[in-house]
Amino acid sequence: MTLLETTVGGLVTANPVWVGSSELTMTLGGLIACVDAGAGAVVAKSVNESAAARRQLDIADYAFVSGTGRVRPAGAARRGDGLLNRSGLAQVDLDDWLAVLAAAVGHGAPRGRPVIGSITLADPVAAARIGRLMAGVVPAVELNVGAPHGREAPAVRRLTEADAVHDAVRVVRDAVDAPLFVKLPGQASDVVALARAARSAGADAVGLVGRYPGFLPDLDGGAILGSWGAWGSPACLPMSLYWVSKARTALGPGVPLVGTNGARTATDVLRFLASGARAVEVVTALWTGGPAVLAELVAGVDAYLRQRATIRGGGLEEFVGSALAGAREYADVPPMRSPAWLPYTARWSRSSGR
Ligand SMILES: Cc1cc2nc3c(=O)[nH]c(=O)nc-3n(C[C@H](O)[C@H](O)[C@H](O)COP(=O)(O)O)c2cc1C
Repeated sequence: MTLLETTVGGLVTANPVWVGSSELTMTLGGLIACVDAGAGAVVAKSVNESAAARRQLDIADYAFVSGTGRVRPAGAARRGDGLLNRSGLAQVDLDDWLAVLAAAVGHGAPRGRPVIGSITLADPVAAARIGRLMAGVVPAVELNVGAPHGREAPAVRRLTEADAVHDAVRVVRDAVDAPLFVKLPGQASDVVALARAARSAGADAVGLVGRYPGFLPDLDGGAILGSWGAWGSPACLPMSLYWVSKARTALGPGVPLVGTNGARTATDVLRFLASGARAVEVVTALWTGGPAVLAELVAGVDAYLRQRATIRGGGLEEFVGSALAGAREYADVPPMRSPAWLPYTARWSRSSGR
């Protein structure tokens, strides 16, 4: 076993930096490029049974937004940008898509880089039918039940109640004869309850968390993209890590978690791992920086874990979830020695003269 090897729901991958599902993984060329760039695993673009979900891709659009709120011109996106976008599912017949997946798996498998199939939920029975066929060609299937476009595009679903997650996953689980990973939304009142429901319905691993629904006025009487969209940014990282760490705490180390939403750097990937994820799906950083970003992330994680191993021993396995040793419930935090708000409030008190 190498330092970076990680096992998720029975799937062994060379490193924990995975490429998540997006238009980058919608063609055989894109899937192969991700494998060759060093991804631990590659999740293919989602499909489902709905013609409407495929048509959504005709109106896909992408706005990269700087930290100060400026929309970048096309092609000028930077790593730290947020992304507001519309998207749709792969416009391909299922038979053709299965052939693409089989070819990608054939390229990745001898290199130790699994290619994972993906379904974004519309109807659970149809997802089960697709999942059964997919499991014949891929080593694992990811089921996304948390599409951020779910309200605007009903042909992709965003389930936010535990019962709904349980029922949908159960139907797909019964049909899929391969590891099943379930990707959950980040915007729900209790994502841990959704994770528990997915697991009790038979998910082999749980993905946390999907991107958020978003809206950005352009201040000229309109909206960026001219519609609502899905939003992700580096600032989403702590929100994703909130649910990863809470799920790890509640479900324990025996339930494999896959982190996603907000990783742009190797440090971000390490933070996902320290919070309890066994692998991290990255997408937006690759849109802005290209394939070289993958090698950079893997090298950064490798360098950190190597250094840590020389000081403390242990490898990736010991690092996963390690941040929780230093995280307390509020009731267990001792009082601060001096009020922590003083440095912030002092100049306001001075300016009022009181
Ligand atoms: C343009 C775009 C398309 C995406 N399409 C899918 C998809 O088809 N299925 C899916 O499960 N996730 C999809 N995602 C979500 C990503 O797989 C990933 O979870 C998300 O982008 C968060 O990671 P990031 O912060 O590294 O971008 C998409 C994301 C983007 C940005």
